[in-house]
Amino acid sequence: MTVARPRPRLLVARRLFPDVLAPLRAAYELDVHDSDSPLPPADLAARLQGCWGLLGSGSERVDAALLAACPDLRAVALVTVGFNNLDLPACRARGLWMSNAPGVLTEATADFGMALLLAAARRVGEGERFVREGRWQGWAIDQLAGATVAGTTLGIVGMGRIGSAIARRAHHGFGMRIVYANRSPAASAPEVLATHLPLPDLLATADHVMVVVPYAPDTHHLIGATELAAMKPTATLVNLARGGVVDDAALAAALREGRLAAAGLDVFEGEPNVHPSLLACPNAVLTPHIASSTLPTRRAMVALAVDNLLAWARGEPGPTPI
Ligand code: DGY
Repeated sequence: MTVARPRPRLLVARRLFPDVLAPLRAAYELDVHDSDSPLPPADLAARLQGCWGLLGSGSERVDAALLAACPDLRAVALVTVGFNNLDLPACRARGLWMSNAPGVLTEATADFGMALLLAAARRVGEGERFVREGRWQGWAIDQLAGATVAGTTLGIVGMGRIGSAIARRAHHGFGMRIVYANRSPAASAPEVLATHLPLPDLLATADHVMVVVPYAPDTHHLIGATELAAMKPTATLVNLARGGVVDDAALAAALREGRLAAAGLDVFEGEPNVHPSLLACPNAVLTPHIASSTLPTRRAMVALAVDNLLAWARGEPGPTPI
């Protein structure tokens, strides 16, 4: 007589797509926190008791305190590409197996970067509000005149997968000249002709700037008051990276005082809260962390996390380990 071995327990810490999660049930006993509100740290630790695995997003902080409280935890799979919620030294010290979801969201996120650049530079948000609020009295020669995008110079801060996909769109689609800054110049070669510049030179040269670097202690406020002051007053700043890479208070001051023309922001310090001064800036286009949000992309992100966890259950490294 064969006795079925108990399947390891896995906490799914977010409402995800049940049909995409279904294959996990062959390998794991699932406990699903079927909610869009992340579990507070104490509840997360309580819910993880007896769990071998955590399937989460960028919201669940996994640090030394959580690991100490959850002795059974061995694996963490994220549906996001960003993993700044993982305290890597603590996770590595514990020997935790970790995965994220790179690649599958590159094109959708790059599309959204262009959407934010165009919306902010060409004042789409302001125009939309103007029409809806009944303020439009008719055509005028300089009405909501914005900045030129086509043929200008785009500065990309962080030439990784997403930066490279943005460069392709900007160069081939909009005839833009591309300059870029990487923390290490050899980190990644862009797919189009592009010039590597130190960050201060990029900020002074670019007509528009897109920030696509991961958040880490060394990228905290990478774009702060000094960097904003180095940019052209006619420029647009787009932040697709993570809240905290840009100093939101300094950005709001620059936008309010006309030292920077416009901003397109999908991520914020302390989100879902948004700095009140940014909310008051009509020249900021603000979106709720949706750069990767097309249904096929979001489903692919979850499917990749599932593949990683199934591989781990078989004792394999998985397609995208951290
Ligand atoms: C990521 O994958 O890190 C995104 O920010 C979530 O959409």
